[in-house]
Amino acid sequence: MFDMLARQPDDPLLALIGLFRKDARPGKIDLGVGVYRDETGATPIFRAVKAAEKALLETQQTKSYIGPEGDAVYLDLLWSLTGGNKTGRAVAGVQTPGGSGALRLAADLLQGMGVKRILLGLPSWPNHASIFKAAGLEIVAYPFFDVPSQTVLFDRMVEALDGASAGDAVLLHASCHNPSGGVLTSLQWQEIAAIVERRGLLPLVDLAYQGFGRGLEEDVVGLRSLLAAVPEALVAISSSKSFGLYRERTGAIFAVAASQVLADTARSNLAALARISYSMPPDHGAAIVRGILESEALKADWMQELDGMRARIQTIRQSLAAGLKGRWPSLAAMADQEGMFSLLPLSEAEVLRLRADHGIYMPTSGRINIAGLKTSDVDAVVSKFIAL
Ligand code: LMR
Repeated sequence: MFDMLARQPDDPLLALIGLFRKDARPGKIDLGVGVYRDETGATPIFRAVKAAEKALLETQQTKSYIGPEGDAVYLDLLWSLTGGNKTGRAVAGVQTPGGSGALRLAADLLQGMGVKRILLGLPSWPNHASIFKAAGLEIVAYPFFDVPSQTVLFDRMVEALDGASAGDAVLLHASCHNPSGGVLTSLQWQEIAAIVERRGLLPLVDLAYQGFGRGLEEDVVGLRSLLAAVPEALVAISSSKSFGLYRERTGAIFAVAASQVLADTARSNLAALARISYSMPPDHGAAIVRGILESEALKADWMQELDGMRARIQTIRQSLAAGLKGRWPSLAAMADQEGMFSLLPLSEAEVLRLRADHGIYMPTSGRINIAGLKTSDVDAVVSKFIAL
């Protein structure tokens, strides 16, 4: 009966990993999937991750099951990192297989609660729409970012949220917007929080790049003002980038509620959804994060290394903005954007030409992973973009 199935296209973003690997040209450059790289082009394992992993190897006594909710200590520590614990809000979380697992559980929970629609500012991470659709939610798209002018369309966002119906969900990027790098100011976050509260919307916040924007604290300022204002929220967290645990699939989904009873009820539903999907989350990555956050020394070392990564990305960002504004004056704005990504005003044909002629890999949306560039590559890459 497998002949009843239609062949599915590869995920366009993940397919870049294989295409890049197959390219034999020595000067090829990978600006595709959102993975941090250092000046040698490697994706390093954090020193603190190695140390926590070593300790785990020596001290872990069992590999027996933990349960569908995952490790409560990991969840508490991760929530503290967002500063969510300082808001005094009732919360309950479930450990998940990465940020995508968190988003899928959230989407299934929304569907089970009777939420019909979710507002999604475009462009967004392509998997957002796919996950929400797979869970049976209707997507209400609105324009969030204008590529030619490199501006966040805040007025359009306000208009969309203001036009939403009570009971609609809204997806928000906590910081480091993927794919645009576009920034919301703290005043704009306050305005969003007020509308969400007034219109009775349910925010689902995607926090996947904490520490890669302005700083660990700064990257959750908007989230915290939102949590202070709204009765309920869902927060999906990925530890893939912030702890460099990509392939360990480490994340969590938190439900913030008006009372602990309601938060716990939400958690019991998330755990039930986990049970019928993958039963229990993988634990290795979460145990590493726990090991780091429980140790003052490892935490300090992890923060220092993360600061260095952010600084490297910012330096490359500045050089790229300075070079690219020669062809596109609006790209000067890239210097003030945040996170790993920016969106270049390129046609699909231009993206494919860069790939074919110069071995520069990026998705056809024109998104670039700035962390994929070495300082020594910047001038050459800028000149290829300018010559297009
Ligand atoms: C990305 O946007 O490149 C990352 O979040 C990786 C992924 O899963 O798509």
